[in-house]
Amino acid sequence: MKTAHFILIFCLLALASPFAYASDPSPLQDFCVAINDPKDAVFVNGKFCKDPKLAKAQDFYYSGLNIPRNTSNPVGSIVTPVNVAQIPGLNTLGISLVRIDYAPNGGLNPPHTHPRATEILVVVEGTLYVGFVTSNTDNRLITKVLYPGDVFVFPIGLIHFQFNVGKTNAVAFAALSSQNPGVITVANAVFGSNPPINPDVLVKAFQLDKNVVKNLQSKFW
Ligand SMILES: *[C@@H]1O[C@H](CO)[C@@H](O)[C@H](O)[C@H]1NC(C)=O
Repeated sequence: MKTAHFILIFCLLALASPFAYASDPSPLQDFCVAINDPKDAVFVNGKFCKDPKLAKAQDFYYSGLNIPRNTSNPVGSIVTPVNVAQIPGLNTLGISLVRIDYAPNGGLNPPHTHPRATEILVVVEGTLYVGFVTSNTDNRLITKVLYPGDVFVFPIGLIHFQFNVGKTNAVAFAALSSQNPGVITVANAVFGSNPPINPDVLVKAFQLDKNVVKNLQSKFW
């Protein structure tokens, strides 16, 4: 009886698995330009879709990624996203792009993770020390110093960073395997949540003095 149950459950799981997507769904039509007002929409496969006959070049277009952005902020980097929020035509297509500018001498894109995307990054200017950490099986740190033309991959979900170790500005572009990859910056999520996490939780989790935790929580993230 136990065996029969096991086999039944196994078969149900096997049947269910094709429908359990860990990433963006495949598009069910050529494209699905996202639209805000559902009364003008014809399909749903992600966000609401515009009538394909009304799609225009502008729905698939973004301009300005050639422009350097101001990196004068506490971490010394700035990310310019180009995802479904900027290009509605990316809806259901499972891809997006960012430009990242790094200040000279230590501009940092701080440790963060994309819950829905793998990232592939190409350096076009400067020198970046990049890395990611594997999950808790061994928490292994994998790093590399990158120069212009170098490409590096950050696997989906893993915590990663880029640090400008050069004396000049650095610039990178990265593609991500989601129309809306999401970002969780570790320090901001843990020490800058709203409302704050009870300091006793962080004292225990990080084995820190309570004053240190309160100091970290008081910073502007
Ligand atoms: C960059 O931002 C800083 C801080 O907001 C500001 O003081 C500075 O004038 C800006 N620089 C440029 C070139 O816009």
